[in-house]
Amino acid sequence: MTYYPISIQEIKQKVAKKKIFRHPNEYLDFIELNNVKEIHNEFGETLTRVDGEIPIDLKITDGQRFLFISYDQSKYTHGIHKYPAKFFPELPRWLIKRYSHPNDIVLDPFAGSATTNIEALLNKRNSVAIDIDPFAKFLAKVKTTTIEKTELAYVVDTILKKLVEFNPKEISENDIPDFPYRDNWFSNEILLELAHIKKSIISSTNNVDIRDLCLISMSSVIRSVSNADDNCTRTVVRKKLNKIIYPSFALTKFAENLILNSYRINEFSQIAPNNYSVYIPNDNDARFFSYPDDSFDLVVTSPPYANAVDYPRTHQLEMYWLGIANGSLNRLKEQHIGTEIVKAIDYNELHRIGDMEADKKIERIYNLDKRRSYIAFKYLYDMRLNFKEVYRALKPGGRYIVVVGNNRIKGELFESWKYLMNLSQSIGFSVENYFGSEIIKHFIKVPREERINTDWVIILRK
Ligand SMILES: C[S@@+](CC[C@H](N)C(=O)[O-])C[C@H]1O[C@@H](n2cnc3c(N)ncnc32)[C@H](O)[C@@H]1O
Repeated sequence: MTYYPISIQEIKQKVAKKKIFRHPNEYLDFIELNNVKEIHNEFGETLTRVDGEIPIDLKITDGQRFLFISYDQSKYTHGIHKYPAKFFPELPRWLIKRYSHPNDIVLDPFAGSATTNIEALLNKRNSVAIDIDPFAKFLAKVKTTTIEKTELAYVVDTILKKLVEFNPKEISENDIPDFPYRDNWFSNEILLELAHIKKSIISSTNNVDIRDLCLISMSSVIRSVSNADDNCTRTVVRKKLNKIIYPSFALTKFAENLILNSYRINEFSQIAPNNYSVYIPNDNDARFFSYPDDSFDLVVTSPPYANAVDYPRTHQLEMYWLGIANGSLNRLKEQHIGTEIVKAIDYNELHRIGDMEADKKIERIYNLDKRRSYIAFKYLYDMRLNFKEVYRALKPGGRYIVVVGNNRIKGELFESWKYLMNLSQSIGFSVENYFGSEIIKHFIKVPREERINTDWVIILRK
């Protein structure tokens, strides 16, 4: 197999044309001064559209529906690595500014890629990021850690030089991690390239923070250079896609990402205040954490959906390459709220959560599929444990803000937000406010409820 020679010069030129390098003023024409207005959607419903920054004192009434247009999804470190069901940064930024003060402590118990924590830090709040997933924790650490610019530039340059010198003969079998179905996921050429990238990173620096940023930049390209579908949260190979991966693809994509991510981290490091921190504890289950009672001023989160994204499966290839998982992922999957890994002995009988609406739905699903019904029940059961834990650890008067949508289980609309709102009240929270944040998909000829995806923002008070 011949490898295409790669040119760092060309890669740098290509990256320089990317949007994030343009002057922010170029975007000003998109963002009007009066950025809140009433609009009507194609169904004649009234929405409040907010473009960009959400005004702190935005008026909210219960049940109101907003269409937030985000401009900051790849600003600072927010743009590092894909992550399913990420917040758009304007939302946690606004909630943090509206409901907490500088120096307060903010918690996100389902932190994922740390959008809440990045915003907490940039707005002078200390914060804690809890997540059960080792990949999320690794990514969250990278995205919230500042790095010294000159040392980073030197390491990036060293790595780029090593990439050009790639010689497949210098890669041994020991350099390539072993994991299930490895040779179905990747072509041999790509395995050799990824192994060379990883070796180049490890041999170029002893600075753990720089190394981890480079490893995350490698991780960002893994899905696109594998045989798996790039656009599916599950890692699956689709023969029909006919995905073609050229030799040198991993090397060039990685080089591009490394340059982009070092730009992002520099931008972040320049503005991140250094006397505030993001703490990522070992204690990582949102149902049981060891923080003392009354620790947090504000909690902002988006929990997983029932029976929706399988996070360990989404990042399985990335975790194998990063060395944070090997073999079966079932043990990890089991700990995830919303998990599909359940035991037959548990789903032979109908379970009830104690909320009338939710129980009716669980029963309907039970008549269609006992296993799915138990998955739905367990989701609500686990979320109730989380509500109890957050209630305990929140200061009196503090708010727990939960952003959650609906989904379908066995064709049944499962209105998580309503069930969760009811459960939260049963353990002591009061509902201060709730409103919708719409994501409109423009598909013709599908029912309204499938075209409109609403995330509900529930503001709870202890
Ligand atoms: C919707 S995502 C959060 C995304 C996040 N808001 C962001 O901006 O990236 C939900 C997260 O919940 C985490 N999770 C699932 N079960 C958990 C548990 N038992 N304890 C803590 N985190 C859990 C998943 O790993 C996932 O990262």
